[in-house]
Amino acid sequence: MIDKYLSPGELKRLLSALMLVIGFICIAAFFGFTVVPGLRYQAHTLPDAPVQAVQGESGWLDPTDYPAMAREVIPPIDPATVMTPNPALMARGKALYAQNCATCHGADGKGDGPSANGLNPKPRNFTAGGGWKNGTRLEDVYRTLQEGIKGSSMVSYSHLSKKDRMALSHVVQSLGSFDHGASDPKALAALEKLFASAGEVIPNRVPVAHAVKVLTREYTDTQATPAGKR
Ligand code: HEC
Repeated sequence: MIDKYLSPGELKRLLSALMLVIGFICIAAFFGFTVVPGLRYQAHTLPDAPVQAVQGESGWLDPTDYPAMAREVIPPIDPATVMTPNPALMARGKALYAQNCATCHGADGKGDGPSANGLNPKPRNFTAGGGWKNGTRLEDVYRTLQEGIKGSSMVSYSHLSKKDRMALSHVVQSLGSFDHGASDPKALAALEKLFASAGEVIPNRVPVAHAVKVLTREYTDTQATPAGKR
């Protein structure tokens, strides 16, 4: 039929042109139906995508507030991984320092962060040796983070895990380039024992707005019930 109009050579060229067009359509379909939706899906599930709502005991929690986090059980730690600085511990400590401490103590630990103005006493300048209340040794800094310093804006950071406080202690030490004084072997041994013997439980964290709602409801409920009938 068609060979009435076309020579075999022309037919061959026509067929190969057709194959080329079909090939392009296949590639376009692959991108349109597989690659692009795949990338869009991936973009949705990147780490900084909004936190998914979590169903709590009393309904849906608000994911835009402080995200609900399940309780964490941290097993005892091998003291060797925290007593001396290692790159992973220092990286963690530096991130925590930037988040929690730099606003007062300054990015380089000079006590000149943006929130330092107007504080009395002033945040400690880690690069100067004198005047430390608890002291500059590793165990001293750890104690400062555990207890805070009374009568100052230096609060306790005991809500951070022990490992995180140790990471921060190493960072503080690295910022002060003066002689820190030798550590007390007894104090270090006590710290090692603390890490090796006891794990930690960081409790459930619930979005603040939700917690406030529940507490308010519970309070108004107790007010509404006549005394003696609770
Ligand atoms: C709101 C401001 C503020 C923040 C945030 C803060 N500090 Fe302090 N810090 C202070 C002040 C003020 C002092 C001095 C207290 C004094 O002299 O009584 C101090 C003192 C210290 C000291 C010296 C203790 C001593 O022996 O004298 C250390 C170590 C320290 N802070 C570590 C930290 C670390 C690590 C963080 C972050 C986890 C942190 N601070 C966050 C205000 C702050």
